[in-house]
Amino acid sequence: MKYKLGLIGYPIKQSMSPWIHKQFLKRAKLEGDYSIQEINPDESFAEEIVRLRNSRFDGFNVTVPYKKRIMQYLDQLDEDAQTIGAVNTVVCRNGKWMGYNTDWIGFITSLKHHYPSIFQNRRSKILLIGAGGAARGIYYGLLKEKFTRIDIANRTHSNAEAIAELAGANGRTSIMTLKDAENNLESYDLIIQTTNIGMKPNVYDMTISLSQLHGSSIVSDIVYQPINTEFLYQASQKGASIHYGHTMLLYQAQYAFELWTSKKVPVDDMEEQLRHKLE
Ligand code: ATR
Repeated sequence: MKYKLGLIGYPIKQSMSPWIHKQFLKRAKLEGDYSIQEINPDESFAEEIVRLRNSRFDGFNVTVPYKKRIMQYLDQLDEDAQTIGAVNTVVCRNGKWMGYNTDWIGFITSLKHHYPSIFQNRRSKILLIGAGGAARGIYYGLLKEKFTRIDIANRTHSNAEAIAELAGANGRTSIMTLKDAENNLESYDLIIQTTNIGMKPNVYDMTISLSQLHGSSIVSDIVYQPINTEFLYQASQKGASIHYGHTMLLYQAQYAFELWTSKKVPVDDMEEQLRHKLE
């Protein structure tokens, strides 16, 4: 069998996913290809979907800005993806499209791999910065891992509230302004920056100031272009432990690849290579 895989999104010309999945194919000793299928927002999405259906893919990834929009074209939706409200992986089998979300588990697995200690205490205090799609997935993953003290800081209160509802009656989430988060940073064991702020070309932008950060915290940023965001750089200057965004990218890809091929490829040793590619 020759796997026909790809990625839809916009803009995606610079995406690392083709490189990652071609490495996976090689490692799994499988034949196939992973192609960029850029869909310009000016084009008709529905027509592009028909084209994709006719192209008989075995599976594809979905990235910004189509993670929600793809959902109406699926035949089946995984429960996690449904709760998160976003799909980043589609499996195509016997003409049926099934949607999954591997971003949240990619984040959790990567965090577990780098900082297993935080998982030894589910009462660790966690701060999420941002309340967009990425934050929702990560919050969902942390709840699934039974963390009980997760706060959210966001510019728009109502967006944070919408995410906190995921916790239901078990919720112990405080919602705060970005300023409040800045002033309370020292109380968190893990701080996760989930917005696109700091991404190239605006590499000096930061969601919050880290002046109150404690050196014993773990600081994570989902932005990986650049790898060493200003946020992470300043956190490391304060002595904090760093969790890089590109590691999440690798693990979400690992799960997507497993959904398509039933093969789990090792990724630990690819982090360095990916880092070099992105630098
Ligand atoms: P994604 O789905 O990629 O996470 P998104 O849904 O657009 O992206 O979410 C973007 C996040 O970045 C939100 O938390 C947003 O804050 P609001 O909920 O207030 O919109 C945050 N964000 C974007 N631009 C921002 C800015 N200039 N300052 C502070 N937060 C910002």
